[in-house]
Amino acid sequence: MDWPILALLTIVLTPLGTAQPRVDVTKRFDCYPEAFNRPLTEGDCTARGCLWAETHYPREPKCIYGNNYGYAMVAGSREETSAGFRVRLNRNNLPPKYSSSPDVQEVTLDVEMLSDNVLRFKFYDASTARYEVPVPVNRPGTPATNPAYAVELVTEDGKPFGIRVTRTATGTILWDSSVGGFTFSDQFLQISTLLPSRYVYGFGEHEHATYRHSMDYRTWGMFSRDQPPGPPGDDGTPPNLYGVHPYHMCVEDDGNAHSVLLLNSNAMDVTLQPEPALTYRTIGGVLDFYMFLGPSPEEVTQQYTQLIGRPFMPPYWSLGFQLCRYGYNSLDRMKQIYDENRQHDIPQDIQYGDIDYMDRQIDFTIDQQNFPGMNDWVQSIRRDGTYYITILDPFISANETDYLPYTRGTDMDVWIKDGDNPGQIMFGKVWPYLPNITMDPNAPWETVVGEYAAHTAFPDFLLNSTKQWWVDEIQKFYTEKLQFDGLWIDMNEPANFILGSVNGCSNNKWDQAPYKPRFWGAVLADKTICMNSQQGGTVHYNTHSLYGWSHSVPSQRAMRQATGKRSVIISRSTYPGSGVYTGHWLGDNTSKWPHLHTSIIGMFEFNLFGIPYVGADICGYFNDVTPDMCQRWMQLGAFYPFSRNHNGKGYRRQDPAAWDGQIAAASRAVLLTRYRLLPYLYTLFHHAHTAGSTVVRPLMHEFIDDKLTWTVDRQFLWGPGLLISPVLDEGALDVTAYVPKARWYDYYTGEEVAETGRMVVWDCDMDCIPLHLRGGYVIPTQEPANTTVFSRRNSLGLLVALDAEGRAEGSLFWDDGESIGEFIYLNQGGFSFEPPVA
Ligand SMILES: *[C@@H]1O[C@H](CO)[C@@H](O)[C@H](O)[C@H]1NC(C)=O
Ligand SMILES: *[C@@H]1O[C@H](CO)[C@@H](O)[C@H](O)[C@H]1NC(C)=O
Ligand SMILES: *[C@@H]1O[C@H](CO)[C@@H](O)[C@H](O)[C@H]1NC(C)=O
Ligand SMILES: *[C@@H]1O[C@H](CO)[C@@H](O)[C@H](O)[C@H]1NC(C)=O
Ligand SMILES: *[C@@H]1O[C@H](CO)[C@@H](O)[C@H](O)[C@H]1NC(C)=O
Repeated sequence: MDWPILALLTIVLTPLGTAQPRVDVTKRFDCYPEAFNRPLTEGDCTARGCLWAETHYPREPKCIYGNNYGYAMVAGSREETSAGFRVRLNRNNLPPKYSSSPDVQEVTLDVEMLSDNVLRFKFYDASTARYEVPVPVNRPGTPATNPAYAVELVTEDGKPFGIRVTRTATGTILWDSSVGGFTFSDQFLQISTLLPSRYVYGFGEHEHATYRHSMDYRTWGMFSRDQPPGPPGDDGTPPNLYGVHPYHMCVEDDGNAHSVLLLNSNAMDVTLQPEPALTYRTIGGVLDFYMFLGPSPEEVTQQYTQLIGRPFMPPYWSLGFQLCRYGYNSLDRMKQIYDENRQHDIPQDIQYGDIDYMDRQIDFTIDQQNFPGMNDWVQSIRRDGTYYITILDPFISANETDYLPYTRGTDMDVWIKDGDNPGQIMFGKVWPYLPNITMDPNAPWETVVGEYAAHTAFPDFLLNSTKQWWVDEIQKFYTEKLQFDGLWIDMNEPANFILGSVNGCSNNKWDQAPYKPRFWGAVLADKTICMNSQQGGTVHYNTHSLYGWSHSVPSQRAMRQATGKRSVIISRSTYPGSGVYTGHWLGDNTSKWPHLHTSIIGMFEFNLFGIPYVGADICGYFNDVTPDMCQRWMQLGAFYPFSRNHNGKGYRRQDPAAWDGQIAAASRAVLLTRYRLLPYLYTLFHHAHTAGSTVVRPLMHEFIDDKLTWTVDRQFLWGPGLLISPVLDEGALDVTAYVPKARWYDYYTGEEVAETGRMVVWDCDMDCIPLHLRGGYVIPTQEPANTTVFSRRNSLGLLVALDAEGRAEGSLFWDDGESIGEFIYLNQGGFSFEPPVA
């Protein structure tokens, strides 16, 4: 929502003391962010040394920074470096004194022009090393010779020091931090900048109601958390979720796009406000920014994934339909549901087991009572062309006798250590149960956690020894117990069912940080381990949000080693760079209609984040789904790159065969359409893997000149050529869709869409999902079958949709679908075939 009224503000500020100049109240930066849910008085504000100015609008901060607060450049400190320059900044010691966190008096700013389109600027403590994110980045190979940007240091009187970045081609100011509030203290780092437009996308992981952000003073916390999408908190913002992506794209008013990454892994929040402006507040590390100049949204994404790593190339079969639920509870039930879906001819490539296949939910075990003969059955469906993905959680029970994963891990010293008892293992409690207990199946949660849950140790995946241990354990499990094809890594925020540890958390500077960014939970250690736990040579406080990323690195290595194939991993928690190793499902969503819409936004965001192998749990995870919702969700989910129907324990069955013939038939029909289009989807993944393009694409990525596309988030594209306009609302039998200006053809009838560049309404009965082919594109297809093993034996085809000039182009990537480094390379005149996977 825009903020139209600011210019009408007529508040006059009384300067507080002589050092403070008059403040421009149209640019208000919150000096008391932690007071968002309680009344703040003028006295509180002035006691902190901030300025008080009444407001008329909800959420607009009343207590704001003065203009001069911040740092000043040390005269003559500028020195040239190999890729840019370095300056020193000195704290100007004006109020406010924000918190008890000691200020860093001298800060260094490094500006590096990494390439013509990539700029880095990094603020760090001039004298003391601080935590820096260990995720490797690939510096661009070609240095800047003709940069698309100019960097200027603002040292004007009456303004605090700031850095200003301009797009040279247009003169648009992309970043201007000379607005006050810059803070660099030990546990509170803050920087604000003006933005060039109110078209801001990204930041994660949250459930966003619209793809384009509201600039209406919204604050988004980022700290990985075992938290399902839920209702908004006190400030109207929904909770932070499993992953952390301090990354956003901004589309300037003229349609050029740029993006910014803050490479920092500490707990943080960002505030988006109407000036338009943005404030980052993080509680540790350094302020290490990367800016990508695009100028198109696709180029922005390509430049970003060049730096953090291109997404992995998923095997062909992993693009097939996937079936899962938590709570099959027995192999017989799993078999029965699998067989029923086969009897209904539902195309399915992948079957899953959730944690109920394990013995007392303990990794690397199989419940022999309820899942006897599990591996034999898995091998039998694999022989029929179905693949099997298994789940593994990160935490390991410490209460078993003869449980080698734990003893070997202890021998290799792989565990996160207790911050209060040097050298001792930090224990939490999660899924694994104790041995030799009698469990009441109806016991309340408190009893389950208090009495049944075992002590669990948490692997420190930042250590090489731990990576090796994990690879070895997976290899052993694979060889000795279960041959599977892919891995699902869950609970890796990391989640903990008790606060901090079995001993709670002590009162220490990490667990009691002076500023708690605005996110779910009363304290940082809520639902996770103590912040002072020792991990990766530092405190968990610094590494927390990297846990999922660090878990995915050896998981991919393990699966490639065990299977000898590319394999596939999905991870619940992600961080920039995770896409190199894993895909992501959008978490424990609920069976409710609005989640159909927000899943499209989630897909857009994860494509921006370089994790294009993404989708939500089709038909929803929590709660019972209704038949209509499930049918519409199957239609939508048939176009998720990661297409899995997954259900929570105890909820009504929702697999395609669970329903009457109509839903099964509609599911089969739409999945056959998906399977027909898989050569196209696979080729899009090849482009993502080699060039960093998006797979699921917001309309604006293709039609940036048409501003009406900038807010479309109820429809999506596969690559440039296929438009998907699903029904998202209860009871709806039509779709209101935007058809961008181009030539479009109905996928089913070939009929050309008469009117473009406007909203249209298409009738759409329960069996319909509108699909449109864009003129100018060739889409490779293949006759579908019940699995990709069989569909890949069928004939290939081409859908050629001509543009206004009667032309079309396209490409096809083809290989054996799963090998590492082997491929079949085809080329034919007039139709370009892409080079192989590296
Ligand atoms: C589980 O293991 C931990 C760590 O060794 C130990 O402290 C605890 O007493 C054990 N619990 C039970 C019920 O055996
Ligand atoms: C659990 O019981 C089995 C036999 O019933 C025994 O061998 C094992 O030692 C017991 N484990 C623990 C931790 O008490
Ligand atoms: C961990 O392994 C990586 C690559 O295998 C190596 O570059 C790095 O130096 C190792 N780290 C330590 C602390 O041994
Ligand atoms: C589900 O939750 C994820 C976060 O895990 C969010 O990004 C996504 O939009 C939600 N999806 C649905 C279907 O609501
Ligand atoms: C899938 O289709 C193939 C070929 O039509 C057939 O041989 C096979 O039995 C089917 N598989 C299943 C599990 O239905």
